[in-house]
Amino acid sequence: MTLSVCRSVAELSAALMAARAGGQSIGLVPTMGNLHAGHLSLVAAARGRCDTVVASIFVNPTQFGPNEDFQRYPRTPEQDLAQLEAHGVDAVFMPDVDEMYPLGERDAIRLEVPGLSEVLCGAHRPGHFAGVASVVLRLFLDVRPDVAVFGRKDLQQLAVIRRLVEDFRLPIDVVGMPTCRESDGLAMSSRNQYLSESERAQAPVLHAVLSQMLAAAQQGDPWGDVCTVGRQCLQDAGFKVDYVALRPESDLVSDEPQRIGAPDDLVALAAARLGSTRLIDNVALSEGV
Ligand code: PAJ
Repeated sequence: MTLSVCRSVAELSAALMAARAGGQSIGLVPTMGNLHAGHLSLVAAARGRCDTVVASIFVNPTQFGPNEDFQRYPRTPEQDLAQLEAHGVDAVFMPDVDEMYPLGERDAIRLEVPGLSEVLCGAHRPGHFAGVASVVLRLFLDVRPDVAVFGRKDLQQLAVIRRLVEDFRLPIDVVGMPTCRESDGLAMSSRNQYLSESERAQAPVLHAVLSQMLAAAQQGDPWGDVCTVGRQCLQDAGFKVDYVALRPESDLVSDEPQRIGAPDDLVALAAARLGSTRLIDNVALSEGV
């Protein structure tokens, strides 16, 4: 099947009609485009699980704050479509803002996610996770996938989406895939291209510090102390730190600085800026690091 490029919900429904009528399973990979190997690993996961694979490309304005990089976010639709076709995607949903938000951005319904949207990245990006939850619910309603694949690089986002699916009882299997990294450990991200040469050389420190934090927690250092050291290491390397944290993946909300030990689902998370570029990453014990 050749790639169908759908710019409207009507085109998407037409492209998926035969698959739905034939009872095929549909997998969805939501993206904001400017694709790299991390995105393509999600496509491969969907391809391996589903008969029909849909990817979406939409730079979602409602998840960007007023002073964030919505305008300059890299947009590379031609390369993206070529890569998606080469990786066996059946249909790409590429709506514009008016198609995605028919009532306009201002009047679009937004979904609050109590607790989870207020901590970690949410504390530094007010409204971000409401924007993510809103657009992902719209994509789920438009595509009606059986499976939706997301990256663990955005672990808090993955938790928000799992909450969305649980709370609305959506019949969607949410799959979380491991973070794809450059050879020096830096998590792949569309935002890495904002880094200057010297910032790019410093950037892998983020992953190294998170790995050290997990090791220190495993050795029995109290979580609060581990985070203090991690924050200092990042500052020494030139980062401006939004947060460093140790949390069980099953509960990203509670902050327990006195806690000692390493539950099986322990994860170290951080967000920090090099110059004007904000990087996020996390490392989990469950990944066997
Ligand atoms: P975007 O940043 O384009 O990411 C799309 C998907 O790719 C997300 O699930 C993200 O976690 C995953 N991803 C990004 N970098 C990755 C890496 N290095 N390894 C593995 N997976 C990676 O996340 C978004 O877009 C948006 O918030 C979206 C969910 C599309 C809603 O607008």
